[in-house]
Amino acid sequence: MTTFMKIRMRETQIIVPIQVFAFEELSQEDRELIDIAKAMTETSYSPYSHFQVGAALRLRDGQIFRGSNQENAAYPSGLCAERTAFFAASANAPEVPPVAIAIAAQTGGQFLEDLVAPCGNCRQALLEAEARFKQPIRVLLYGTKNVYVVPSIRDLLPLTFDGSALP
Ligand code: THU
Repeated sequence: MTTFMKIRMRETQIIVPIQVFAFEELSQEDRELIDIAKAMTETSYSPYSHFQVGAALRLRDGQIFRGSNQENAAYPSGLCAERTAFFAASANAPEVPPVAIAIAAQTGGQFLEDLVAPCGNCRQALLEAEARFKQPIRVLLYGTKNVYVVPSIRDLLPLTFDGSALP
């Protein structure tokens, strides 16, 4: 027999702030970052998914690191565009905080109409940089219709797990 416990429920909600822009409404800096992410889709190695993703990560000192998805016949050995860019930045400019990342994707010769959003692993990887440098990373998600701008990775990954939970 099932026993139901009467518990007092409280509900809470997490709201994700997202700004929606037409490409032309963005600042020159943001447009530049998106243009690089779009160009980087051309360097994607994606013979399995045919889904070409490009990423561009701007650091606080103005450097921009680039990435594209790199697939492998052993599927899990591949890497997303965002982490390719972020790990390159972290390896080559380890002390400089990232401040913004732009992501674009195309398939079948067309950029996606709607945004492409980073996968959970990429969000977690980038969260490490936000936590480490105590600096939000703005996320620019490109679609041909609109560009979605999220103020931080933390906003995209609510109830985060980071190093502060570890002893
Ligand atoms: N991919 C990325 O590079 N970034 C994303 O945000 C989503 C997915 C890649 C992984 C794989 O090579 C292909 O897109 C299909 O999942």
